[in-house]
Amino acid sequence: MGDLVKTAIVYASKHGATAEIAQRLALKLGSQASLFDLAAGQPDLSDYDTVILGSGIYAGRKVAQMNEFLETVDLSKKRLGLFISGMLQATDQRQAELQAAYPAELIDQAQASAFLGGRVVMSKLGFAERSIIRLVAKIKSDIDTIDNQAIDEFVEQMSE
Ligand SMILES: Cc1cc2nc3c(=O)[nH]c(=O)nc-3n(C[C@H](O)[C@H](O)[C@H](O)COP(=O)(O)O)c2cc1C
Repeated sequence: MGDLVKTAIVYASKHGATAEIAQRLALKLGSQASLFDLAAGQPDLSDYDTVILGSGIYAGRKVAQMNEFLETVDLSKKRLGLFISGMLQATDQRQAELQAAYPAELIDQAQASAFLGGRVVMSKLGFAERSIIRLVAKIKSDIDTIDNQAIDEFVEQMSE
């Protein structure tokens, strides 16, 4: 990437996995990358020519703050990257979840779009969330599938 390319990584994370992925992306993209947690408010992206969006997935849906952000932000002139964090394992299911998460025109526009894995820390979940994750994903103990290779590929695609 050229010296003048500024990248904003904007993420919505309930339990920290998407935040962790965003931080790893920022580290690999270098000093021109800035991190914005939507929990702290919606960032002004006018100074950024490249924008990466990431969200955790809950019952097939993005974290609400990312949906709200997408309703207000104009990304039409940005170099775009899109990712989700989730616990699905099968490649086709991961792909379907990604396609459902972002509008088709944004996915078409994106330099990179990917499922980058996820993490569940049981002690961070409430009772209801623990019950759902047991039922839906058959997860009973802590698990980390954050995919460093996919993160590297994502960064490469963003740099092309
Ligand atoms: C209640 C609950 C529902 C979930 N539903 C899904 C889902 O539908 N698909 C998926 O891929 N992962 C699902 N997950 C796994 C999370 O997406 C995964 O842990 C992700 O890394 C969380 O990101 P975050 O910590 O940034 O919020 C679910 C997790 C919980 C606790």
